[in-house]
Amino acid sequence: MTQSAYRASLLTFAGDPGLAPQAAVHHEDGVVIVEDGRVSAAGAWSALAAQLRADATVHDRRGKLIVPGFIDTHIHFPQTDMIASPAPGLLPWLETYTFPTERRFEDRAHAEDVARFFVDELLACGTTTALVYCTVHPQSADALFAASHARNVRMVAGKVLMDRHCPEFLRDTAQSAYDDSAALIGRWHNRGRQLYALTPRFAPTSTEAQLEACGALARKHPDVFIQSHVAENADEVKWVADLFPGHRSYLDVYDHYGLLRRRAVYGHCIWLDDHDRRRMAQTGALAAHCPTSNLFLGSGLFDFDKATASGMPVSLATDVGGGTSFSMLQTMNEAHKVARMGGHHLSATRMFWLATAGAAAALDLADRIGTLAPASEADFVVLDPAATPLLARRTAHVESLEDLLFAFALLGDDRAVYETYAAGERVHGRDDRDSLDSRVPRG
Ligand code: GUN
Ligand code: ZN
Repeated sequence: MTQSAYRASLLTFAGDPGLAPQAAVHHEDGVVIVEDGRVSAAGAWSALAAQLRADATVHDRRGKLIVPGFIDTHIHFPQTDMIASPAPGLLPWLETYTFPTERRFEDRAHAEDVARFFVDELLACGTTTALVYCTVHPQSADALFAASHARNVRMVAGKVLMDRHCPEFLRDTAQSAYDDSAALIGRWHNRGRQLYALTPRFAPTSTEAQLEACGALARKHPDVFIQSHVAENADEVKWVADLFPGHRSYLDVYDHYGLLRRRAVYGHCIWLDDHDRRRMAQTGALAAHCPTSNLFLGSGLFDFDKATASGMPVSLATDVGGGTSFSMLQTMNEAHKVARMGGHHLSATRMFWLATAGAAAALDLADRIGTLAPASEADFVVLDPAATPLLARRTAHVESLEDLLFAFALLGDDRAVYETYAAGERVHGRDDRDSLDSRVPRG
């Protein structure tokens, strides 16, 4: 078995650094040792160099920082081509851009083309796991999984369920949603590194019968993921109150159908009340905070103080194409500012944890991804503190790990990602001109 070692500065986590600062583990001169796609050891070079076999390949990345691969807990792959399309709010944005764009995914070849680009773009940004919405078409999910399986990337994805309040051409039914999702679970859940997520788009576009069917499938498959949107926009919240008058709140609709549990991930969670937050905490459902999207669509400001006080699990996500960047560094940048608007200081160390080990733990994937712990799948990113002239100047005089991470979070983007590794394979190199050229559409 070959052994590969990566020598650089290292950051990994042994817990939530918000609770115990020493949970952020940093080695100035460190090494990650990879065997058979997994981390066999990570720590100080001085402690581990002697363990390297004589035939080990040592990749010298001194001057750079290795961190676990980023986890984006909410993103729409079909919206790649409509990123940065402005609208006065969520509902007109869905009507004007989203639904027409998603229609094109009935064409398998189109879905495959976008899926390949999408996976490459995630990797270029250092994102090695994402929770991905496909379209209503089952072939869109097949296309995404095939692209991700081909790169051996750990991905969680699902076909959107939507049987009302959308154009006829994007509708399924309660029965077809059940049947198609069940078939996709059979084809993709736990195939290689792929995992399935039941994906009702949001309560307004599913009938009660469809939510019921989704809940039944969730009960049948307790280890599949569930993903949806909740409490993103004030008009949406009013609409849900009209459509589901018997429910205490928007979140309560999902609760009623058995869709709150561990491995259930809800995008946005802006307009929740304290009762809802407690329910998220009790059930272990995870909030995906999407700051670039929330600012772009004017949806509102996620309340970090209330979320933290309630104990509800929180993660960071891009929400492309409502979100304006694939980069989790840019997502941290905006998350910091959103928290600041609420009087909360969100440290860079905590944001890196939220985007790696914290997300993995909340998704029940901590034994596989999110850290550089031995036996973890070797998903990691090599960050370049000198990626741009400005980053180089700013990081030349950093005084602490937090200071360095803060510079990456506020000033970094895909340019700061020197390399990305998935299951020990190099799946992106910033300076590989050939691979960059091949990604530019031609004709
Ligand atoms: N709510 C329902 N669908 C969507 C979507 O595609 N994006 C966002 N941001 N919110 C939604
Ligand atoms: Zn979304």
